[in-house]
Amino acid sequence: MSTLAPELHQLINQQINEEMSASYSYLAMSAWFEDTPYGGFAQWMLAQSQEETVHAMKFYHFLVDRGATVKLAALKAPDQAYTSPLEVFETSLKQEQHVTQCIHRLYEAAQEHRDYESKNLLNWFLDEQVEEEKAVQDMIDRLRLVGDNPVGLLQLDQEAGQRKPLAPTGEETA
Ligand SMILES: [Fe+2]
Ligand SMILES: [Fe+2]
Repeated sequence: MSTLAPELHQLINQQINEEMSASYSYLAMSAWFEDTPYGGFAQWMLAQSQEETVHAMKFYHFLVDRGATVKLAALKAPDQAYTSPLEVFETSLKQEQHVTQCIHRLYEAAQEHRDYESKNLLNWFLDEQVEEEKAVQDMIDRLRLVGDNPVGLLQLDQEAGQRKPLAPTGEETA
């Protein structure tokens, strides 16, 4: 019998879905960029998608380690209709802000149930959300600055492309 409170157990299962949904959404954003000249942004979004899967797996393994059953729910089809790189990153920021709220809700539950191990796990996620929101906000600020200037956009794209995917993507790499 798991020592995890049922409420926390349920919220963590839900958070696995949130992280996988974020991963799926970033993958859709990456696919959108693949149909544009912005290969660097496509790569950035692919790396971000993989990171979100890693987040889901952190919660997954936490449940397993605590002897609590993992329950996976359906994923919704992500949005794939974007009109500009800026719109993609603005959507990404909203998504991250939503996830931050979910982590706060989880943290409150961990506090209520005095679950110190959950709080420890969630502390990592609090830091991670600060980093991710900042990274996306920085990109939004710079995209607003360059506006429709193709030279500026291609420069940001090239910079974004410096970010390498974390794990095998099923694609041959040199
Ligand atoms: Fe995440
Ligand atoms: Fe994230």
